[in-house]
Amino acid sequence: MTILQYIGHSAFFINTGEYGILTDPFISGNPKSVFDLKNSKVTNIFLTHGHSDHLGDAIPLSKAFNAPVCAIFELANYCAAKGAAAQGINMGGKISYPWGSAKFLPAFHSSATPEGHYAGMPAAILFEINGVKIYHAGDTCLNSEMKTAGEIYKPDIALLPIGSTFTMDIEDALTAAVWLGVKQVIPMHYNTFDLIKTDVSLFKTKVEAKGIKCTVLQPGESIEL
Ligand code: NI
Ligand code: MN
Repeated sequence: MTILQYIGHSAFFINTGEYGILTDPFISGNPKSVFDLKNSKVTNIFLTHGHSDHLGDAIPLSKAFNAPVCAIFELANYCAAKGAAAQGINMGGKISYPWGSAKFLPAFHSSATPEGHYAGMPAAILFEINGVKIYHAGDTCLNSEMKTAGEIYKPDIALLPIGSTFTMDIEDALTAAVWLGVKQVIPMHYNTFDLIKTDVSLFKTKVEAKGIKCTVLQPGESIEL
């Protein structure tokens, strides 16, 4: 049984029982996040880009759990320089794991280290975990790469930012869901702070009008994959 838990913002924890896959772990800096660190086993950490609301606690958690951080090459090098185990990758790269795989795909955004240095390109990550394909969009605007991802990789579930200002808004995220061809959408990157406030129930109504399931998770809530 694989469980996907929403931690808050763009952070998710996917627990296969044997493996724990953490993405964009913005936890200690986000008062709205909910994650039971003490009772969770993290085996792999993934980052979509270097902004502090995504890098979050990746470096200390990597050290605490002896879990590698997989990120775009420059960001992986940054994590390695800070003492974390890191695994560099770049656009189109796919790494296989005992639980499945992760493939890095384009996102249209920016990416820098907390010190403001170049952190490579921002990314979306396509996970395949025990046969379920999960597309984590990272921070991005709507872009036609999503059509390609839908056509070629056929993801099952999309984790999409909807908060606008720094990413897509609900209208563009709706189009992204259609282009990706997913069966289910989980919104993220909204209501963490005022600049990304949005009406998530309106998003849910619009997505479900297209025949796509929309699961709104509160921080700490989970679904079974
Ligand atoms: Ni960002
Ligand atoms: Mn962000």
